[in-house]
Amino acid sequence: MILASEIRQKYLEFFRSNNHAIIPSAPLVPENDPSVLFNTAGMQPLVPYLLGEPHPLGKRLADAQKCVRTGDIDDVGDDTHLTFFEMLGNWSLGDYFKRESIAMSWEFLTSKEWLALDPEMISVTVFEWDANAPRDEESAEIWKSIGMPEDRIAYLPAEDNWWAAGPTGPCGPDTEIFYWMGEGKPPRGSNKGTDSKMWMEIWNNVFMQYNRIDANTLETLPAQCVDTGMGIERCTVTLNKMKSVYETDLFAPVLARIKSIVGESNYNERGARIIADHLRAATHMISDGVTPKNIDQGYILRRLIRRAIREAYKMGYEQAFTADIASMYIEQFSGIYESVKINAEKIKNELSLEEGKFSKTLKDGVREFDKIVNGFKIAFERSGQKVTQIAGSKAFTLFDTYWFPIEMTLELARENGLTVDMDGFNTAFEKHQELSRTAAAGKFKWGLADDGVETTALHSACHLMLAGLRKVLGDGVHQAGSNITAERLRFDFTHPEKMTPEQISAVEDYVNEAIQSELTVTITNMDKNEAKASGVEGSFWEKYPDIVKVYSMVGANGVTYSRELCGGPHVENSQEMGKFKIVKEESSSAGVRRIKAVLEK
Ligand code: SER
Repeated sequence: MILASEIRQKYLEFFRSNNHAIIPSAPLVPENDPSVLFNTAGMQPLVPYLLGEPHPLGKRLADAQKCVRTGDIDDVGDDTHLTFFEMLGNWSLGDYFKRESIAMSWEFLTSKEWLALDPEMISVTVFEWDANAPRDEESAEIWKSIGMPEDRIAYLPAEDNWWAAGPTGPCGPDTEIFYWMGEGKPPRGSNKGTDSKMWMEIWNNVFMQYNRIDANTLETLPAQCVDTGMGIERCTVTLNKMKSVYETDLFAPVLARIKSIVGESNYNERGARIIADHLRAATHMISDGVTPKNIDQGYILRRLIRRAIREAYKMGYEQAFTADIASMYIEQFSGIYESVKINAEKIKNELSLEEGKFSKTLKDGVREFDKIVNGFKIAFERSGQKVTQIAGSKAFTLFDTYWFPIEMTLELARENGLTVDMDGFNTAFEKHQELSRTAAAGKFKWGLADDGVETTALHSACHLMLAGLRKVLGDGVHQAGSNITAERLRFDFTHPEKMTPEQISAVEDYVNEAIQSELTVTITNMDKNEAKASGVEGSFWEKYPDIVKVYSMVGANGVTYSRELCGGPHVENSQEMGKFKIVKEESSSAGVRRIKAVLEK
């Protein structure tokens, strides 16, 4: 078995012996980038250097970088998804390029001195070609020259072989290295392009040559750079042909400990995996200065800790255990990340503190939740009326009195086949936050403070904006709440990450084009199910009667700009609306963004 610790250690040793300076991992929380909560890729802290700033330790660097991605948090517990992971990387800042980079990767993977993998188990991909850059024959030739058979090289499009951290910033074609996961050796002619599923990516060499300024502009970087990334967890699973990351030395002992804590008969594998993943991420977050809070990084941390505690609770374990699990991670990572070693006591204390606070209320909160569910059952038995939605005010009580992060209430609801009135929750939440609200807010329906001309215009803009958001960001966007006064609209919607300036202006353009198109607003009464099936956009369907009003906004050019469930009121003449402008885009709660926008006359 190849251990994760061995891969990490050998990797850094190999690159040290190839004249790379080994740099410490940057903290999980980006130092100068308020646009993301955590580092999500190994290259993120090095962006300034890829863009040309000289690095104090030279042009050849290697590291193990701590990363956190929370986008797939609900999938944690399966075989592969993790919130915290480590990315091994080697970097050339205008020093070596394709030839040496590929040669070093090959040597590290196959040389007897290093990982000693069987070359026959490896295949690679290179960039095929597109309008931005030519086919990467150079990389393919280098691979061939060091012994890679031609039938193990696949040319794939940008979707697979072009790497960028985001819509702007350093980017370039890459060559990716895959390991065969199937039985025995791969048949001849098999590569990632022909037989994808059995080939698992273990390493990505990105040839950073460009800086994307916007959707249409690609500039050449001052120097050609290399950014490689090897995710330790995935690499360990793959090289050992394991089924799940929890079988690796990174997790196996922790799962065993959880089993012994909760007792074999209570043990639940998925729950234990969630605990192991979440407390590992929590350990690293606290080591990098994050503490449990109700906003930003602190909120993510709080959610992770509380979710872990609830999983133990579900296994019938109600005593403190988080510091005990953390101490295993402290031991595992102390020699690797200085911050873990230095903050060992703090990690355990913060966890215990949060656990103490939450445990006190968890039991009562779950009891309160059960009461709600029972209430639904009783109502159904008595009157045949089936309620499946938890009122926003109840969800807020769970949040405020019992310290349930809203995501936990959502999760409990899901487990019971119920939904939560998020709009109502947000309203209660805002009231509590004592955000500035106009006295009249909430008096009118549809989140409108009044039915004056300005407010009505902003309401129409709101619909156009939602359609624009769905067009630019995808169908995952839905309304999560709105509040409109005569001065501005405030709109909450589901979306996992911060919008880029390009996305914001694309949405503004969409709305302004619609405004200029002499919109006609029509109202149709439709059967609710039919409306839903025909793609009418709407949230909170359950609040509406069987026959619903569907508003369509169609331009004189024939384009349908918005089709949405609503009850009005809307403008009569769109050209009087003025110019639409988004003035703020920020996080509202986890997975929910908030926009403030105005109409300028
Ligand atoms: N930036 C690339 C990745 O994250 C290589 O490090 O895959």
